[in-house]
Amino acid sequence: MIRESIVITPNADGSPHVAPIGVIVEGEELVIAPFRPSATLENLEARRVATVNYTDDVRVFAGCLTGRRDWPVVAASRIAASRLAGALAHDELELVATEQDAQRPRFRCRVVHRQAHAPFLGFNRAQAAVVEAAILVSRLHMLPRAKIDSEMAYLAIAIDKTAGPRELEAWGWLTDKIAAFYAEKVS
Ligand SMILES: Cc1cc2nc3c(=O)[nH]c(=O)nc-3n(C[C@H](O)[C@H](O)[C@H](O)COP(=O)(O)O)c2cc1C
Repeated sequence: MIRESIVITPNADGSPHVAPIGVIVEGEELVIAPFRPSATLENLEARRVATVNYTDDVRVFAGCLTGRRDWPVVAASRIAASRLAGALAHDELELVATEQDAQRPRFRCRVVHRQAHAPFLGFNRAQAAVVEAAILVSRLHMLPRAKIDSEMAYLAIAIDKTAGPRELEAWGWLTDKIAAFYAEKVS
C-alpha cells in the first residue's frame, strides 16, 4: 500500500527539503523510493532521518511541483528534522537499510514516533483530483499530451463539483504549469 505523503528531509545546512512522495507501507516499516536524481535521496543517505507528513492541504502537493516549496514547518520531536506545521499527523523515521538501485533505491525506515495533530474530516474528490494532477505534472516530460489533456479533463469534473478554495488554488497552479510547459514547447 502506498500513502501519498509529504516527505521532509534535512538538507546539509539543516533547512527542510519538502517533497511529495508515495511512501510504501511494508508491515511495520515505511519505504521511501526516490528516483535519481533527488534531493530527498541525497539527504536520506547523508542524514538517515525523515518525517512523513499526512495532510489534506493539497496545495502542498501542487505547490512543490510548481516551485512553491516554502511551507511552514516546526521541529520534529524525536529526530533532527522538521515536520509540516499544518499536518493532520506525522511519522518520524530513522533509516534501517538501503537497497541500492541505479534508478530508484529503496530506503527502508522504522517509525520512531507517530503523532496526530488534527482530525481527518473525510474524503474529498477534488483533493484526490489535485494529487492525481500533481503526479501528471511530475511526468509531463514522459507522457503524451493527449493523455495529459484527457486525464485533466476527467479530473476537472471532481474539481468543478467538490472543490473548496484550497483545492481551486492548487488546481490553478497545476493547470498554469501545464499550459506553460506546452507554450514553451511550441515556441
Ligand atoms: C503524489 C506524488 C507522489 C510522488 N511520489 C514519488 C516517489 O515515490 N518517488 C519519486 O522519486 N518522486 C515522486 N514524486 C515526484 C516528486 O515529488 C518530485 O519529483 C520531487 O521533486 C522529488 O525530487 P526531490 O527529492 O529532488 O525533491 C511524487 C509526486 C507526487 C505529486
